Amino acid sequence: MKRQIVITGDGSATIQIEDWKEQYHSMHGAIQESEHVFINSGLKQCLNIIDSDPIKILEFGFGTGLNALLTFQEIERHTIDVEYTTIEAYPISEEEIAALNYSDLLGMGSAVLLSFHNAEWEKNVKLSPSFTLRKTKSHFQSFHSEDRFTLVYYDAFGARVQPELWERSIFEKIYNLLEVDGILVTYSSKGSVRRAMEDIGFKVERLKGPPGKRHMLRASKI
Ligand SMILES: C[S@@+](CC[C@H](N)C(=O)[O-])C[C@H]1O[C@@H](n2cnc3c(N)ncnc32)[C@H](O)[C@@H]1O
Repeated sequence: MKRQIVITGDGSATIQIEDWKEQYHSMHGAIQESEHVFINSGLKQCLNIIDSDPIKILEFGFGTGLNALLTFQEIERHTIDVEYTTIEAYPISEEEIAALNYSDLLGMGSAVLLSFHNAEWEKNVKLSPSFTLRKTKSHFQSFHSEDRFTLVYYDAFGARVQPELWERSIFEKIYNLLEVDGILVTYSSKGSVRRAMEDIGFKVERLKGPPGKRHMLRASKI
């Protein structure tokens, strides 16, 4: 499918899938959305309430690497380790990586984002003394792990274009991949998703969404 780089409302780049008219991030602001949903509502909540070191993060969809980059930046301010596992079925190209403007906007050298994208697939790669990255090239539906995760960033495309990724079976799988007290965050606040999560056993909070979106969901395994 044809993809192009577009600039969102906060000046940060994202990728658009032209046929689907779907973006990797909110058009109101890619960095703004990722910071709100995944860092402020997910990672910081874990840092505040979960006594777990390392924090084991599982991400659905590595994509541009923005969530990983923001996590790396946040974690450097703490004395805790992160093991970051990310699943991606359709990695982006070198040209697309080169067109991402996150390093400048976040005041980081471009080497950091490149080190994420250049990290070998299916290997644990230590990117700093406290941050280990493992990229897995597969469909989430066929991902298996003996590990149990502290935090899941659920960042799939929307249900309009990939409804199969918002079905109950996906959230059941995530429930089983989480530690007790583990957290899932997603930008979606879809009613059917929320009800499926509650039915599976999650405690679900409907939080204020990022700009342009009324709500988002945070689900805890109790
Ligand atoms: C909404 S984008 C978010 C990407 C990323 N988190 C970011 O910040 O750029 C969704 C991502 O999921 C990937 N994807 C789509 N279907 C998938 C599947 N079944 N399993 C794993 N990844 C998938 C896409 O290629 C895309 O990179």
